[in-house]
Amino acid sequence: MKGQVTQAHVTSQFPTSDTDLHVCLISEEGGFDLRTSELAPAPPKPVPAYLDAKALFHVGAYCGSVLASVGTFTLEDMDSDQGSQSSGRSWRIRGMATARDFRRLGFASAVLDHGLREIRKRGGLLVWCNGRTTARWFYRHHGFEQIGGERQVPGLQPHYRFKRAIGQPHHS
Ligand SMILES: CC(C)(COP(=O)(O)OP(=O)(O)OC[C@H]1O[C@@H](n2cnc3c(N)ncnc32)[C@H](O)[C@@H]1OP(=O)(O)O)[C@@H](O)C(=O)NCCC(=O)NCCS
Repeated sequence: MKGQVTQAHVTSQFPTSDTDLHVCLISEEGGFDLRTSELAPAPPKPVPAYLDAKALFHVGAYCGSVLASVGTFTLEDMDSDQGSQSSGRSWRIRGMATARDFRRLGFASAVLDHGLREIRKRGGLLVWCNGRTTARWFYRHHGFEQIGGERQVPGLQPHYRFKRAIGQPHHS
């Protein structure tokens, strides 16, 4: 069922062809369970989680009918955007998560690529995030530039600030 993560062992559902992968916009509620389980120990974000966002959308990547990966994109400036060309045209990635059994299969990449397409359509110039230290290879793989060192903020997972200009798709 869409929006639910199966608890069953899903090895047999690994994508065997491109047609198994389906990526689309989803509701915030649809991604809640997956986001909550895979981003623990971060506390669950109640829906709606991003009340201050001027605009936002949520993307899901399915393996067949199973939701494998999710991500949210919110229209939000980085602190350093103030007065810059990208001010008002910067998008932040939130809650990027792939179900454990589906990792390293390209599902989060599909979510990110879909999000970037949507942001391009909406005239975005920059995408950024606070990417967990444990997820840094994912953002580096996608051509994100690391800004500064590792950040240690009470109550948050150690993370780095990453940004990437919106342009052509980039893969290392
Ligand atoms: C980070 C995360 C979303 C990546 O999801 P994913 O679906 O496995 O990512 P992809 O398969 O699209 O990975 C694309 C590339 O990123 C890099 N990458 C992703 N995970 C990696 C890891 N654990 N170690 C090293 N490189 C990694 C690889 O280059 C990979 O390509 P490859 O598998 O061909 O080598 C996933 O590991 C996750 O949900 N982690 C827990 C929650 C989390 O930390 N979310 C991010 C919050 S900022």
